[in-house]
Amino acid sequence: MNGPASVHDLVQSHRITAVIYAAAKLNLAEAIGDEAKSVAELARLVSADESALRRLLVGLTTIGLCRQAGLDRFAMTDLGRQLGETADPSFKDWVLFEGEMLAQSWSGLVDSVRTGKTATQLRGEGDDRYAASGNAPDANRRFNAAMVSLTRSIVPRIVAAHDFAAARLVMDLGGGTGELIGAVLQHNPHLEGIAVDLARCEADARAHFDRLGIADRCRFVAGSFFEKIPGGADTIVMKSILHNWNDDRCRIILRNCRDALPSGGTLIVIERVMPELATTEPEDRSCVMSDLNMLRGPGGCERTEAEYRRLAGSAGFAFVRTTGIGSFSLVQFS
Ligand SMILES: C[S@@+](CC[C@H](N)C(=O)[O-])C[C@H]1O[C@@H](n2cnc3c(N)ncnc32)[C@H](O)[C@@H]1O
Repeated sequence: MNGPASVHDLVQSHRITAVIYAAAKLNLAEAIGDEAKSVAELARLVSADESALRRLLVGLTTIGLCRQAGLDRFAMTDLGRQLGETADPSFKDWVLFEGEMLAQSWSGLVDSVRTGKTATQLRGEGDDRYAASGNAPDANRRFNAAMVSLTRSIVPRIVAAHDFAAARLVMDLGGGTGELIGAVLQHNPHLEGIAVDLARCEADARAHFDRLGIADRCRFVAGSFFEKIPGGADTIVMKSILHNWNDDRCRIILRNCRDALPSGGTLIVIERVMPELATTEPEDRSCVMSDLNMLRGPGGCERTEAEYRRLAGSAGFAFVRTTGIGSFSLVQFS
């Protein structure tokens, strides 16, 4: 690993989160655009103190998000452009979520390690983080937007990795505001789709289907995957769902999938797959950090392929194959 020289370096990682968050909150990528700009002009554009902004820009330069183009001019790098709202991919919404919500929550990680409980459980708000946040529309919007940015960034690899030619009706269970099912239907004009999620995702999902021009073949069904789920689909996709829940809760979701699918139906689980033995490779670290995020957040965990096979097998599914797509994998069952 080409890593930090000391723990003193490593423990300062939160400063990097804060620097990136400040850049996103100031809309710096949008202000800089495609051409280098002077610090004075940027300070005017983002309403910041000129000298302080220069120091932030130098900080962004040291982590590869900005480039210094002359003494007093800065441009965004290709990596830095991902902070722009309309970039492809854009991680701006994830950065705002990380800076405003996850960073605070992670400061209590030690309490979750001591007790094995999530932040929601430690606050006495029950076992279901999603139910507990029902009355927090701003936080839900921030969370949904972050999920869209992450999912949108891997959608091209998902549609390339799985052939939907034989499918007719695909259900995205826990499909949020419809990013994944929208892309699957756009790439497969023969398909119809259903997104199932909590009612709070409905308005944004319907607006998204209208924007994509697929509202006539994609519907949103508000409901819980812990209850009976709609029938009729020959394929069920679940992305970033099972890792939110413990094994008992996953088995309920998986049995509901089994009951909803015809025999010969397809289940596609899209998750990070935990390595059997973690190394210091960035992909392993990203998976393990996500695992700790599940410990602190909803109370689930990242799982190895063998664990997914056992879990799905206990609900009556047979393993078909695993296809790696960058840091995520498609695990297919029938
Ligand atoms: C981590 S997000 C994943 C969203 C989407 N699949 C994606 O990957 O972009 C988990 C989703 O599960 C949904 N969810 C949580 N509890 C649910 C329940 N009981 N029934 C249906 N959906 C639920 C949340 O609203 C959220 O959209």
